[in-house]
This record gives sequence, structure tokens and C-alpha cells, in this order.
Amino acid sequence: MGKLDGKVALISGGSSGIGLATARLFLDQGARVALLARSIERGGQALQQLQVPASQGIFIACDVRSQVECQQAVEQAVGAFGRLDILFNNAGVIYIERSVLDTSEDQWNETLGVSLTGTYNLSRCAIPEIAKAGGGTIINNSSVFGLVAGQGVAAYCAAKGGVIMLTKAMALDHAGDGIRVNCICPGSVDTPMLQSEMEILGGQESMRPAFAARHPLNRISTPEEIARAVLFLACDDSSFITGAALPVDGGRSVW
Ligand SMILES: NC(=O)c1ccc[n+]([C@@H]2O[C@H](COP(=O)([O-])OP(=O)(O)OC[C@H]3O[C@@H](n4cnc5c(N)ncnc54)[C@H](OP(=O)(O)O)[C@@H]3O)[C@@H](O)[C@H]2O)c1
Repeated sequence: MGKLDGKVALISGGSSGIGLATARLFLDQGARVALLARSIERGGQALQQLQVPASQGIFIACDVRSQVECQQAVEQAVGAFGRLDILFNNAGVIYIERSVLDTSEDQWNETLGVSLTGTYNLSRCAIPEIAKAGGGTIINNSSVFGLVAGQGVAAYCAAKGGVIMLTKAMALDHAGDGIRVNCICPGSVDTPMLQSEMEILGGQESMRPAFAARHPLNRISTPEEIARAVLFLACDDSSFITGAALPVDGGRSVW
């Protein structure tokens, strides 16, 4: 028996990295999943990798910065699967080597728009459906940079710090609807996002040990390790947890 049997989950940024690993784990645990992201091509590739029939997994093109697109995506997911129980607000972008002085207005707006406004947009559209299903869970993807600051990631820190407080506010507001709202705060995770950061900073091979050394466990995590924390917060194993910001960071936020 799966931990998510009968449940329907919507995963933003589901075509890559942490979102894709979470989709795979949710499917293994019996859920049906709707993956949201912008690129239809990468969405199709993700479905192929998951080898999932349309009755269990679909891709919906959606830019989470648009509330209209979020509303259409929620309607499409509920139209396909009949209900919505779980929302993983996971889409995010990062610009590195950017203090406030180096951050353009477009970069600021995109970073805040995807992580923070995107979480608001999708939650606003999904909460009535989750409530209709009798309650459920929302998991937001913050970052270790929502807990402690990093150099050269000013907009990202602002966005991810905002996600933590939005999580707590939503947990209070929707406890009465039977909806638990939590967030995860990952350290460095081996995904295309981190790989392109390492490329910019001098190449993956040379940067990997330096990134690993930022974590007391002295390594980068796999997307699957993050997905397991998302599953914990999505299912009844965490039935008395709401409003939490869970570090999944190999101890990085400790020192
Ligand atoms: N990797 C890390 O080290 C790390 C650490 C802490 C937190 N995180 C957080 O984890 C989340 C997932 O990151 P990842 O590392 O898995 O990154 P990734 O592999 O780059 O995946 C990002 C996903 O977000 C989607 N996306 C980007 N902009 C979007 C938009 N406007 N609307 C809808 N979808 C959008 C991308 O698809 P399209 O481009 O096709 O839209 C893609 O599916 C992010 O919130 C990130 O900040 C990552």
C-alpha cells in the first residue's frame, strides 16, 4: 500500500530536478500527478522519463507568475483527475553573483515572481479545491537561503525568506480547512539548477568539492533525498506538523 493512494498532487517545476524526483516518488506511493512548468518540450521529456500513463500523470504548461495560468492549470488537473489533495510549490529560479547592486529589475522580478508570487498564485487557485476534497497538504520549496543568507544571492534570499513566512501564514489561515502547510529548506541539491551554478563558477568538477564542504555532512544531496522529505510532509506521517520550515541541508544552516 502506498502512502499517497488515491491522492492527486500538483507539482510546480515538476519537469526537472527536485520536482521530477518528487513526482517519481509520489507516483511510486500511489498518487496521480500533474506536473507544471513552462517548457512543453521538457514537460514531455519528463513524462517519458517517468513512463507514466496519462491516467496517472499529465504535464500542464503554466508560468506560475501568472494567476490566470495557475487557475487554468488547477482546473485542468481537477478536470483530469477529479480532485486535488496535495500541492508542491516547487518552481524557482536563481541568479548568482548578484548583490542588490548587480541585480537587474527583471532578475529581481523573476526571482520573486516565480518562488514567492508563484507560491501565492498557485496556492490561491488550489486551496479551494483541496478544501473541497476534505483537506490535504501544501509543501513549499524554500531553501537554506531562506534561513541564513548567502553572498551574491540577494533576490533569492528575499524570495526564499518570504516563502517561509508565507508558509507559516498559510498554515494559520487554512488549518480550519484541514490543510497543513509546511516548507522544506534544502541545501545544495544535484539538479540542473545547481549544475549551471557550478558551471558559471568555474566548472562542475572543480566546484563540487567546494559546494560539498559547505555542508557538515560534506556532500551535496540527491534530488531523491529532498523528495523523501516532501513525501513526509505530504502524507499522514506528518499529521501533526503544520507551519514548519524543515531544513534538509546536511547541517548547512547549523554553522
Ligand atoms: N538545487 C538546489 O541546490 C536547491 C537548493 C535549495 C532550494 N532549491 C529550490 O528547489 C526548487 C527546484 O529547484 P531545482 O534545483 O530542482 O531546479 P531545476 O532543475 O532548475 O528545475 C526548476 C523547475 O522550475 C520550472 N520553472 C522555472 N520557472 C518557472 C515558471 N516561471 N513557472 C513554472 N515553472 C517554472 C522549470 O521548468 P521551465 O523552465 O520549463 O519552466 C523546472 O521544471 C526551486 O524552488 C529552487 O529554488 C534548489
